Amino acid sequence: MSVVDDLRSWFIARFGVAPQLYRARGRVNLIGEHTDYNDGFVLPAAIDLATYVGAAPRKDRRLVVYSLAFDEGVEVDLDAAPAPWRHWSDYVVGVALGLEREGLRLSGANMMLATELPMGAGLSTSAALEVAVGYALSDLAGSALERKGLALLCQRAENEFVGMRCGVMDQLISCCGVAGHALLIDCRTLETRAAPLDSRARLVICNTMVSHELAASEYNKRREECERAVALLSAEFDGVRALRDVSPEALARHGAALPDVILRRARHVVTENARTLAAAEALETGDLKHFGRLMHESHASLRDDYAVSCDEADLMVDLAQNMEGVFGARLTGGGFGGSTVNLVEAEAAERFMRSIAESYRAATGLTPQIFCATPSEGVGRVSP
Ligand code: GLA
Repeated sequence: MSVVDDLRSWFIARFGVAPQLYRARGRVNLIGEHTDYNDGFVLPAAIDLATYVGAAPRKDRRLVVYSLAFDEGVEVDLDAAPAPWRHWSDYVVGVALGLEREGLRLSGANMMLATELPMGAGLSTSAALEVAVGYALSDLAGSALERKGLALLCQRAENEFVGMRCGVMDQLISCCGVAGHALLIDCRTLETRAAPLDSRARLVICNTMVSHELAASEYNKRREECERAVALLSAEFDGVRALRDVSPEALARHGAALPDVILRRARHVVTENARTLAAAEALETGDLKHFGRLMHESHASLRDDYAVSCDEADLMVDLAQNMEGVFGARLTGGGFGGSTVNLVEAEAAERFMRSIAESYRAATGLTPQIFCATPSEGVGRVSP
């Protein structure tokens, strides 16, 4: 039985009515890592694995939410000023309160959540959950939000209610994904440009199966380091509101003003922005070899300058880089474990998936999850 069929029948069994179903997808970022919160550029695609919400309105103001993944339910009264408690339901409640702050008066709802996304794999389970819930609740309230507005609202909920200072990439691609395409996003203006994934290539995701505890605290620390770089560089020259405003040449000229660690963090962001713009062009002109080289450079920069990789991800990337038919490989998402993204020749993809699984298992004893991802469309209702 599919996740959707399962969700529908569990919902009916629990709540006694048929739900409206909503779907928001996970994402893989092809390149442009840790640039979104620096007003920079990213190039993600929504993938064919998703989180689903079944929902039906209630007459009161309670959210009664059940997660099939955690086999656990919570009940929240929207009028009782609910507070975060480091629980999966924080994402749901944060988004609901965000919608109300936008002026939407929500009714209560019975909701059930299910996901195809592996947790901790760096494929944005949290953004998919926020976006699916945000879309569902606003749809039940009779006023579906404009997609970019919904993405910003979900990001704010995660920043302010959950306490993770993420950028806007994950929520935006989950809202606005385009089938068959990656999306170049300018995270300052939120302008997007869809670049088709070349039919000669496949996107292969390799889940390292590790997700290190550090991720959230180190993430917030990287953001602070970037803010420090901006403060120091804006004292050196005009027009620096974010690292987006610093060119590789300007950083080379003024880098001496920064302590070593801060310089390395800034160098990652500044060079990654340039790589991302070049990569979008390479995708558009079909230069997959160049795209692959940029992915390798991105990984090296994440590992050496931004220090967000880990042994398992480095190993997965090294293994891929030495295999036939691989254009490029890199860590994708926030880091400290999670997944790598690999651009692989279409005819070589099956063989690549088998060999990398074997080599990684032989080296680590861990059985990785390896699959091909298809770029897919953004959030919406699931038709009955
Ligand atoms: C996480 C965050 C995103 C982005 C990436 C790193 O996925 O949620 O906003 O910063 O890390 O590129």
